Amino acid sequence: MTNPLAAPDPWDYVADGYDEVSADIMLPFAQIALDVADPKPDARILDVAAGPGTLTLPAATRVAKVDAVDFSPPMIERLLRHVRAAGLTNVAAQVGDGQALPFADNEFDAAFSMFGLMFFPDRGKGFAELHRVLKPGGVAVVSSWAPVSESSLMTLIFDALRAGNPEMPRPQTNPASLENSDTFDRELRAAGFREASVEPHTISLAFDSADALWDRFARGSAPLQLSRRNLGAEDWTRREQLTLDHLRANYTPGQALSTTAWLGSGTK
Ligand SMILES: C[S@@+](CC[C@H](N)C(=O)[O-])C[C@H]1O[C@@H](n2cnc3c(N)ncnc32)[C@H](O)[C@@H]1O
Repeated sequence: MTNPLAAPDPWDYVADGYDEVSADIMLPFAQIALDVADPKPDARILDVAAGPGTLTLPAATRVAKVDAVDFSPPMIERLLRHVRAAGLTNVAAQVGDGQALPFADNEFDAAFSMFGLMFFPDRGKGFAELHRVLKPGGVAVVSSWAPVSESSLMTLIFDALRAGNPEMPRPQTNPASLENSDTFDRELRAAGFREASVEPHTISLAFDSADALWDRFARGSAPLQLSRRNLGAEDWTRREQLTLDHLRANYTPGQALSTTAWLGSGTK
């Protein structure tokens, strides 16, 4: 079955919400990725599946030039709006597919794909393209979520979603996905990266209320916004109410919850 998130449409649809509520949840991982690659001030770097610029924007303040690519035009519009608002002149952004990058070989000192390449139908091509466009010695950093069971935030959210829709299966770890650090490591090496490593990084988040937690999560989530659109208002509202009831009963305002991502890196 094709993953709906492998096509631009859900990302086009969620772009505004993602930019408003999700990008700053993802920002700590972008900052860790930049620290892992540690590009020099004169570096040219690439952000693949850049979204609204979660990594591109902080990167542009520490390197000479950033290229950003995303297959969703509204994501690129959002990114460019932030670039203009920040007065940055060293960012070039374009709509494009991470599996066929619009760049020549050996152009970049570092290349990133934060929570993007994990959705590509052909991840092998995604990794190979990152490798191709890097200069020899260049570093790639790619992120993907660790299994739900390792994240108290995601465990609570999935329990709440199942309270709204008991038919929803419990989250299963897919050993063939980048959730599995061995698969992740193998795919990095298969693309030709040396010194490959895949490390867990955990961040902690707290919310003012269960409703705030839900708002932050739901508005920026492509799968949830897709299901909202497909279900129609009545069914969505009924499920959302049950989900919120679960969250209100199980989340204490201010409680810290964790979420863990894998950051895989390698050198060309
Ligand atoms: C979860 S968002 C991550 C955005 C950003 N990198 C971040 O860390 O916040 C996933 C992004 O991947 C993009 N994407 C998914 N598949 C893609 C592909 N084949 N080529 C380019 N972009 C893609 C989506 O449009 C979306 O902007």
